[in-house]
Amino acid sequence: MKIGLFSDPHYSSQELTCGNRRNNLSLGKMRKALEHFRAEGCDRVICLGDLTDTEDTKAKEEANMAEIAALFKEFAMPITVVMGNHDAYVFTAEEFYALLGGCEPVDVHEDGKHLLFLDTNYTAAGVRYTPHGFHWDDVGLPDPDALRRQLAALEGDVYLFMHQNIDPAIPAADHRLANADRVCAILEQSGKVRAVYQGHYHWGNRSRQGGIDYITLPAMAVYDDTCRIIEV
Ligand SMILES: [Fe+2]
Ligand SMILES: [Fe+2]
Repeated sequence: MKIGLFSDPHYSSQELTCGNRRNNLSLGKMRKALEHFRAEGCDRVICLGDLTDTEDTKAKEEANMAEIAALFKEFAMPITVVMGNHDAYVFTAEEFYALLGGCEPVDVHEDGKHLLFLDTNYTAAGVRYTPHGFHWDDVGLPDPDALRRQLAALEGDVYLFMHQNIDPAIPAADHRLANADRVCAILEQSGKVRAVYQGHYHWGNRSRQGGIDYITLPAMAVYDDTCRIIEV
């Protein structure tokens, strides 16, 4: 499977937020990434979250999603979007995927390979994020034992895709899940997880721990040419 990845477009009408996010350029960057993925014959595309960002009105926020949905529709490729904290700050999951017209994460099982998508838009106490109702660094995976059981039931190589970070080498501890160490131990003990792909930490990172590659994509909103193609 050939997969095109990109992360953290933070697309909105704003020229600059947080000092380095050029939000309004991301629609063009996504188009360029999708053209690249199509030209390279990717089977599917995965966005690792923070697809969109906050505006001063709900109407503008919905209009941004309509522009993204129209762009995605132009490309006849299966596109999956894992929600990031910025997406969850603006929309519920139901609103988000309805506005996109699809792109919900559905685990993929093909040729003995498994692509699993983890939604970590929960507080450390396990409460689901609600729009405007949480702080981004209060984050955890509720019920990690469910993941342990899911991994135990699979045979073959597993690849994980998520927005927030578990990579033990991420230099900013506030970007990691409160129970990241436990989640990493579960992945390692399964002996099946080959790589974890994440966004959220905008500078990007790469490490290898316990036989697992942790790859964090740099943010599309901040840098140019951040997309990448993987083969699993
Ligand atoms: Fe982000
Ligand atoms: Fe994020």
